[in-house]
Order: sequence, then C-alpha cells, then structure tokens
Amino acid sequence: MKLQRVLQYAQQLLKDSIDEGDTVVDATAGNGHDTLFLAQLVGDNGQVYAFDIQKEAVDATLLRLLDHGLEHRALVLNKGHEDVAQYVHKPVAAAIFNLGYLPGSNHDIITKPATTTQAIEDLLKLLKVGGLIILVIYHGHPGGREERDTVMDYVSRLPQKHVHVLKYEFLNQQNDPPFVIALEKMKEFPI
Ligand SMILES: C[S@@+](CC[C@H](N)C(=O)[O-])C[C@H]1O[C@@H](n2cnc3c(N)ncnc32)[C@H](O)[C@@H]1O
Repeated sequence: MKLQRVLQYAQQLLKDSIDEGDTVVDATAGNGHDTLFLAQLVGDNGQVYAFDIQKEAVDATLLRLLDHGLEHRALVLNKGHEDVAQYVHKPVAAAIFNLGYLPGSNHDIITKPATTTQAIEDLLKLLKVGGLIILVIYHGHPGGREERDTVMDYVSRLPQKHVHVLKYEFLNQQNDPPFVIALEKMKEFPI
C-alpha cells in the first residue's frame, strides 16, 4: 500500500466526481495540466471553464489542449476566478484551484486571499449537490501563508449541513509541502 501523493490524491478526487457531459472549472489554469485532465474527463459533451489572469498561462493552456486535440472541450478565459459567476451559468460537478504562482514564471503574480475566497464562495453556489471543490494549497512562497490562513479560516467556518470539508496533508514533510482541501456540497444554500 502506498499513500497517494497530494497531487495524485487531488486528481483521484476529480476522477471520482466527474462524469462525461459534466461542466467543470479549473480556477487556476497555469500551464494547463489540470485543464487538460478535466477536458479528458468531461468528454465531447462536457465543458471545462478555465481561468487565469496571465495571458502567458492562457496561451500555455490552449497550446496543451491543442496538442491533445481537446481545445473544443474548454473555454480558457484570461479572467480572474473571482469573476466565475459572470461566465459559468450551469451547475458545476467539480472545480480545482492550485494556489500560488505559475511555475517557471513571475513569482510575484500569485493567487490572493480575497479573490480566492470570493471564487470559492461563488463556486459553492454553482456546485451541484454531491459536487467537489478541490484546493491544492501551496504556502511556502511570500504571501502564501496569509492566503493559506484566510482560506483555512473561511472553509473551517462553512456550515457542516451544507458542506463537508476535508484536509489531506503529510505532516512530517519538510519545506512547507502543499496540502489538499476538498469541499463536498451536501445541500443547497438558502438564497
Ligand atoms: C500554481 S499556478 C497553477 C498551476 C496549474 N494548475 C497547472 O496545471 O499548471 C497558479 C496560477 O494562478 C493564476 N492566478 C493568480 N491569480 C488568479 C486569479 N485571481 N484568477 C485566476 N487565476 C489566477 C496565476 O497566474 C498562476 O498561473
């Protein structure tokens, strides 16, 4: 038995919660690895909405999709995930966030506490009952600790009747390893 690594675990959760034809969100497209993974899961009748504030990330994501012939399954938006409610109008089966900076790029452009929590809040409303939001929380970079603390505070206060909140973390790894938070919607929120 080998414990799943953090990124493997996040992908397993996506696999288990997404069916062909689903609408899903990659909140931080970056180099497009998760967007591609989601596009493979939703099939030709599904739709991925991918967000990133950096044009470089949008281009890298589109290129990755084109390389796999799957660009028709994703709408890659050069917009912040805090605008998700403006662009997504269908019930969402799953969403993923990889917090932090784009690997190999400008380390000063990072996800931020206020916009991340705004996007989580809006996605919780869009999520189907039984759907998942997955957060891969990187917190070793400047600004990462503040975002981690804000997000942890926000998710810890979510009402248990409506959302189950799970943390998956290796406790004895060095150098601030990332960890996973999974939010499972149990019940609609009152409007
Ligand atoms: C850790 S990287 C994502 C890695 C990506 N999932 C991949 O597969 O390569 C974080 C990304 O979040 C983006 N980002 C920062 N603030 C954002 C926001 N408000 N909305 C959407 N993306 C944002 C950054 O530009 C960066 O590309």
